[in-house]
Amino acid sequence: MQVPSILEVKELCGKRVLVRAGLNVPIKDGTVTNQFRIDAALQTLRHLHHEGARTLIVGHIGREPEETLKPVFEVLRGTLPISFVEDIFGDEAGRAIELMKDGDCILFENIRRYPEEKANDEEFARKLAALADLYVNDAFSASHRVHASIVGVPKFLPHCAGIHCADEVRELSKGLRPESPSLFVLGGAKFETKQPILKMSLETYDNVYVGGALAHDLLRARGVEIGRSLASDNPQGIEAIKDHPKLTLPIDAIVETGEGKKAIRTLDELTPDDRILDIGPMSTRAVCELAKESQSILWNGPLGYYEGGYGASTETLAEVIASRTNVTSIVGGGDTVAAIGALGLEKEFTFLSTGGGAMLDFLADGSLVGIEALKRA
Ligand code: 3PG
Repeated sequence: MQVPSILEVKELCGKRVLVRAGLNVPIKDGTVTNQFRIDAALQTLRHLHHEGARTLIVGHIGREPEETLKPVFEVLRGTLPISFVEDIFGDEAGRAIELMKDGDCILFENIRRYPEEKANDEEFARKLAALADLYVNDAFSASHRVHASIVGVPKFLPHCAGIHCADEVRELSKGLRPESPSLFVLGGAKFETKQPILKMSLETYDNVYVGGALAHDLLRARGVEIGRSLASDNPQGIEAIKDHPKLTLPIDAIVETGEGKKAIRTLDELTPDDRILDIGPMSTRAVCELAKESQSILWNGPLGYYEGGYGASTETLAEVIASRTNVTSIVGGGDTVAAIGALGLEKEFTFLSTGGGAMLDFLADGSLVGIEALKRA
């Protein structure tokens, strides 16, 4: 699948371009801790700057409307002539837009400070559209959201995808038609949100390996004791998936015992006091063997509690995939891509997606609401 890209748009000099960017990055103590999404967004922002466009950037950050994009601005200001404006429609914004020179950029504060954004308010989308001559969606990671800056604005402006967003669509489309033998690795949590992608992957891939907290749900559904491990409440539809012949689950685990000690357990050794924190060494070997035999590998979500320091299996799998040549390897999800980045292995993968949920929804449904909005004339 392809979407119209900003690279096809001519005569950008002096044009006002509204870019919906994917700038929702991790922040700690007011500082960006992972720049992957910002680097992806910079491809389009630099292109617009070089072409002399006047770029108005909107994006969201975090879960709470009070959260601020200022730390992102601190990163961007080192790379582009850019200013930061709090209120998109206020006097300050009006003045800043008037004073823009060709090639300048403005980053506006967290667009979710406006409740109309999530409500996909039509009037709000119209007001955003009135600021610019062209709309660019480069926020693939948010393009599964029916929000005003994603699906509303393109109704009222000529529109196209940003460079990274167009890359996402092209590269992830390859994941819809994997070359055999193919492997899909899924980690993370929340069975309900992952059920559509599990269904798709079991239909499309030769092997599906599930780790992370998602595996706890499936193991429990198979009657395995999972103790105090993180799990979903009443996961609907799990019965139809749990014994699928293409599905492989962990056979051992690294746990925290009732006494707070670390231990390795096979499934039949797990006790009600145990908490699973990572897949065990035998399971890691098994998923790595599958990866070594596969021609196409798609991976989303860590195999263990990566953010809590249990990243051994995730890192081993990343190293094994990175060592393969002439395979298609597509990876997404914040923690999974962060693990690859921490190992310095980014270049060894065919494509790293900025999407977490957006990547999974794209693969499950074959598109996203924000991508469909770009296809409309
Ligand atoms: C993102 O930026 O990663 C996505 O938009 C998900 O964030 P959200 O669930 O807050 O939309």
